[in-house]
Amino acid sequence: MTGFDATRWDAYNALQVGRPPRDLCRRVMALAGPGAGRHATDVGAGAGVESAALLADGWRVLALDPAPGTARVVPAQVPPSDRDRLEVRRAGLPTALPATDLLHASFALPFVPPVRFADAWAGVRDALRPGGWLAATFLGPHDSWAGDADLSARLTFTDERDLDRLLGGLEVLDHRERRADGSSFGGPKHWHTHEVVARRARGHEGAGRR
Ligand SMILES: C[S@@+](CC[C@H](N)C(=O)[O-])C[C@H]1O[C@@H](n2cnc3c(N)ncnc32)[C@H](O)[C@@H]1O
Repeated sequence: MTGFDATRWDAYNALQVGRPPRDLCRRVMALAGPGAGRHATDVGAGAGVESAALLADGWRVLALDPAPGTARVVPAQVPPSDRDRLEVRRAGLPTALPATDLLHASFALPFVPPVRFADAWAGVRDALRPGGWLAATFLGPHDSWAGDADLSARLTFTDERDLDRLLGGLEVLDHRERRADGSSFGGPKHWHTHEVVARRARGHEGAGRR
């Protein structure tokens, strides 16, 4: 487990059950259109709320998350009629990813440690099929966790220059930066987030394998 204690993620994810799908997921689903059997990967799927939303919209979904409860909690959010299109894997980035038409990573990439982020990101880029959609949250440098010596060594923070480099060659359709006081599972904090929806070009392009 990376970033935080794995047992804490199970407790966090249990609290997410029953909430509506996050806006980032709704936005990418609206842009990408109905899944119609296309493949989506939900990285750091957590409780599986967004995986369930993607399945309901006709996607086949690989939900992956390193938290121990993943194989139990994610299918429990999915009606039996959708479960044959769901695959659940207990794994965290970096890990081998299948080619996919939509990669959703909500509040997951920051928990990849800095020393492993380049590998993780290369895998994400490589997994996107031509025309494939990416929806991801990044934590910015003004996030209060970035000022914590312990967390800043374990979490990956992404500034504007990093973001430009990471998203190079993708078409960015939606980018929302948010700076706001709020709270997390660990208590009050200042959030600095970037939410991005981007797309790989349909034709040939350097990144990606198919
Ligand atoms: C804040 S939760 C987000 C869950 C869900 N995507 C959401 O938006 O509610 C972060 C999730 O990332 C997972 N995670 C931690 N390290 C990870 C890694 N290296 N790769 C992928 N997921 C990771 C955790 O287990 C946890 O379920």
